[in-house]
Amino acid sequence: MFVICEICDITINTAEEYDRHVGGKRHINQLNYYREKKQHAACSVFVKGFPPKTTEWELKVYFNNFGPVDKIIFDKKDERFPQYAIVEFKYEQAANNCLSFTHPHILNSTKLNVRKRDFKELSETPYFPWQKGQGQQHSWTRPGGVQPPHGGPQHQYDPSWDTQAGPGGMYYDPSGDPGYEPHWQMDGGYGSNMRNFDPSYDPNVYPDFQANQQGQGQGQGPQGQRGMPSLPGKKKKRKKKKKGDGEQVQKDQPKIKREDVIDLPITVEDFLKEMMSQTQKGIQTEMGVLADAIQVTSQELQSRYIICKLLEEVLTMFFPGVSINQFGSSVNGFGIKGCDMDVYIDLTNLGIPCRSQAIELPYVRDIRFLKKQRGPLGHDDMIKILPVDKAKLILRILTDHAPACTELTLIPSNRCPIVRFTHQDSGIKCDLSIDNKLALQNTRLLQTLSLYDARVRPLVYVVRYWAKLKGIAGNPRALPCLSNYALTLMVCYYLQSVRPKVLPTVQEMADLAGHQRTIINKWDCSFVAAQFIPPTMNSQTTEELLAGFFSFFAEFDFHTSGILMRTGQSFIVAEASNLGIPMKTGMVNIQDPFVLDHNITLNINEKTRQLISMEFRVAAAKAAKWSKPENANSKTILDLFTEDVPEGVEFTDLTSKTTSGIQLGDYQFTLELKIDNLDQGLLHSLRKTGNVQVAWCKRMCTFVYGILERVLMFDVEINKTNITDPLPKTRYYNHKEKGMKRSKSPDSQETDSKRTKTDTEPGPSDAANGGEKATTEEAPVPVEEPTPGPAGAEGGQEAEPMDEDTTADYEDADVYLDMDIKIFCRTWAERKKFMSAFKERGYTDSSELEQAVSERLYYDHFKTARNPIVEYNFIVKSIVKGSNAVLLFTALGDKEQKEFYCVFHYIKKFLAKMEKHFS
Ligand code: UTP
Repeated sequence: MFVICEICDITINTAEEYDRHVGGKRHINQLNYYREKKQHAACSVFVKGFPPKTTEWELKVYFNNFGPVDKIIFDKKDERFPQYAIVEFKYEQAANNCLSFTHPHILNSTKLNVRKRDFKELSETPYFPWQKGQGQQHSWTRPGGVQPPHGGPQHQYDPSWDTQAGPGGMYYDPSGDPGYEPHWQMDGGYGSNMRNFDPSYDPNVYPDFQANQQGQGQGQGPQGQRGMPSLPGKKKKRKKKKKGDGEQVQKDQPKIKREDVIDLPITVEDFLKEMMSQTQKGIQTEMGVLADAIQVTSQELQSRYIICKLLEEVLTMFFPGVSINQFGSSVNGFGIKGCDMDVYIDLTNLGIPCRSQAIELPYVRDIRFLKKQRGPLGHDDMIKILPVDKAKLILRILTDHAPACTELTLIPSNRCPIVRFTHQDSGIKCDLSIDNKLALQNTRLLQTLSLYDARVRPLVYVVRYWAKLKGIAGNPRALPCLSNYALTLMVCYYLQSVRPKVLPTVQEMADLAGHQRTIINKWDCSFVAAQFIPPTMNSQTTEELLAGFFSFFAEFDFHTSGILMRTGQSFIVAEASNLGIPMKTGMVNIQDPFVLDHNITLNINEKTRQLISMEFRVAAAKAAKWSKPENANSKTILDLFTEDVPEGVEFTDLTSKTTSGIQLGDYQFTLELKIDNLDQGLLHSLRKTGNVQVAWCKRMCTFVYGILERVLMFDVEINKTNITDPLPKTRYYNHKEKGMKRSKSPDSQETDSKRTKTDTEPGPSDAANGGEKATTEEAPVPVEEPTPGPAGAEGGQEAEPMDEDTTADYEDADVYLDMDIKIFCRTWAERKKFMSAFKERGYTDSSELEQAVSERLYYDHFKTARNPIVEYNFIVKSIVKGSNAVLLFTALGDKEQKEFYCVFHYIKKFLAKMEKHFS
C-alpha cells in the first residue's frame, strides 16, 4: 500500500515514512513553493487576443483598472509577437474583479480573451491512489489513522466569474485612455528602500466589487451588472428590457463615498505627524511619505471609474460607440487627492445607430438643422455639428438623463468647449471635453516619463504640493497661475537639463519611435514607451534633484528665456518669432511638447511671474542648506513649506516692490555700488573726486551709455543729462524717423553731449569689419542730425507724447541721464551661438567680445529694420544715501510694442552681466 505526494511527486510506502516526509524540510519547502505559485496564479489572469505589438505598459494600464498590477509575463515562445500574457495582480481581489467584469475587455479596439490563469491544483497532502479524481483527497485519513497536517485545498475561484459574456453594445474602453494608470502602478518611486512601501493599500480598496462578489456567492448569476452605476428613470427600464435583472442592478450598484475635495490634500501639520510616526528619516523618506499621503486614493480612482461608467451608459444611448477616456492627473501618475477629473468624450468612431434603440433627442437650438427628433446619432450626424454644439447637446443629455451630474455648466470655446459638472455622490468635479486627443497623448507622455525613472514621481508630488501651498500653481480656476500640467513639465524640463540627464527629451523619445509615427491634428506626437528608452546615467538622489530643481529655476530668467519642452532647450523670448514654429510669448514661456505653437503658460501675468521667481529663490536658498554637513540631522522638506525667507535672499515684495529700499515699478531696475567689488585703481580715482558715491554714479552712467550705444549698438540719443564728460555717439543711421518721442520740457537744457557727432571717427565697428562698414549694403549711412523741432514734434511728423514729462523726477538727482533708445537690429537674438563661436576663436569674456558679437549680428547676420523694432525712453538717475549709491533705471514708452517687455528685460540682464567689466 502506498500514498502519493503530488507536491513532491513521490510515493510513500509506510506510515513512518509518511510522518518523516510531511514533517521534513523538502516537503515543507515544496509545499511552500506550491502555495506561493498557487497564490500567484490566484492573483493572475490569462490574456489572449491582444493586438500584435501590444506593450507591457499598455496591458498594465488597462488591467490597472481592476487593481494594482504586479507584473506582466509575456508568452516566452515568441517574444516579438507574444500570443498570450499573464497579468499578475498584487492582490487576488483584483484578479477576481477582472474575471468578474461583465463587459468585454477591449484594448486598442480589440476584444481580449481574459480568463482564469490555468493552474494545476495538487493535493497538498498525500493520498491513496484510488482517491484520486473522487474528490476524496479532501477527506482522507493518513495511513494509520493520523489526520493530515492541513485541510484540503480550498477553491479560490468562483467559476461563475470566469464568464466573460457581457451585454452587447458599446463599452468604456480604458485602452482608449492611454494614460489610465492609477498611482499604485508606478514602479517603486521612492528609492529602492521604499519600493514596496504602499501605505495606501487597503484591503477594502474595492469595497464595491467585494460587496458584489458576496452577492454573487449567494446565488446571483454571473451576468450581474457589478460595478455599474445606476441611472434612475430610463436606465432602469432599459436594463429590465435587456436582462430582466434591473432590480438586481439597482441593489448591486456600487456606492460612492463622498470625498472631501479640499484645497490642500494634507495639511503641513498632518504631514509632520505622519513623519513623526516614521522610523526612517531624511529628505528622501519625507518625499516618499508626502507623495503617498497626497496621491489620489484608490477609493477616488474607483469613484472616477464609476463616473466614466455612468457617462458611458448615458451617452451610449445617444452616441453608440462613444468612448469615454480619462486624461490628466487622475491617470497620469501625478494625481493629488481631490483633484479634478478630466474626461475626453471621443465621438469620432460612432457605430451605425440601430433603429430599435431610438431615443428622444433633447432640443438644442443649434442642431435643429439635423431635423432629427430621435436618436441615436451616428458619425454622419456628428460631422455636421460644431464642437460647441456637441458640448451643448451633451450638456442637455446629462441634464435630462444623469441626475448624478450636478452643477452642469458649459464653458464655450471654439477650440475645446468643456462641459463641467460635479458628481453628486463623490463630490468629484469633472471637465468633459469633446475633441482632445492631444491631451490623451500628453497624459500618456507624462505617464511614460514617470514610469521611466522612479525619481520623477516623488519629485513632482513634492513640487506640486509646495507650489499649491505657495499659491503659484494647482488652482486652475484662479486664472493667472501655473497649471499643474505646466508645473509637471517644468520638473521634466529640469530633469532633461541636469547633467547627466535623468529624462530624455521628447524629441529623443520621438526619434526612437522610428517609422511608427502618431500624428494628431498635424502634430507629431510619437514617442516610445519607457522600456525602449536607454537608461539614465544620472545617479543623483531625489533630495539632490529637488534642491537642484529649485536652484535651476531660481536662476532661470523667465523674462528673457523660455522653455522648449520638445527639445529640452531654452530659447530667447525675443527670438520666439524665429522658432521654427512661432509661438505667442508672454510673461512665462513654456512650449507644449507636441503642439509647438502653444505656450502653455500664456495666462501668467507679471505679478505671478514675480511670485514664481521669488518662491523659487526662497526654496532654492532653503534647499541649498541641505547639503551642508552640519544640517545632516536637522534638514527636512518642511523647510520648504514655511513662510521664512532665508537671509540673503533677494526678496522682492510684490506689493511694495522694494529692492535696496527703493520702490520699483514694473519697468524699473537698479545697479548698486558694491565698493568691495571695485578695482583698487578705480576706487582710488573715485576717491580723488571727493565723493565716491556720486563719482561712481557718473562713471557707471557713462559706462551704461557705452554698453547700450556701442556694445549693443542701439540707437541712443540723449535728451538730457548732467554728466559733463562727453558721451560720444559712435554712429548715425538713416532709418526713417518714425514712432513716438517723449515730449520734452520746454525749459530742458540739453548738454553738450547731446547728439555729439563722432561719425568722422571710425568706431570700433569699423575696425571689426575691416573698414568695410560704409560700403556694405546693410551698413547704416551717416545722416544729418535732425533739427530739433518744437517739443513733441520732430521730422515733420505729428508728435505723440510718449509719456508725461518726468524731468522733475530726476533733475534733483546728483547724476541723471535721460535718453531715447531705438532698436533697429536684433542684436540680442542668436547671441549665445555667436558668443561661443567667437570664444572658440580665442576671444575671452569682455565687452570687446560682446561688441564684436553685436557687430557680427548687426552687419552680417540680420538685416537692420527700417523702422525701430522697439523704442524706449530710458531714464537713469542716481540715488545716493550715505555710503550707498544706486542707479535707478526706468524704461518708458509704449508698452504695447511687441518686444517692449522682453527687450527691457534683456537690457536689464545684460547690464547686470556687464557690470563685471566696469572699471
Ligand atoms: P491640469 O493642468 O489640470 O493638470 O491639466 P493635471 O495634471 O490634470 O492636474 P490637476 O491635478 O487636475 O490640477 C489637465 C490635463 O489637460 C491637458 C493635459 O493633458 C493635462 O494633463 N492640458 C492642460 C493640456 O493639454 N494643455 C495645457 O496647457 C494644460
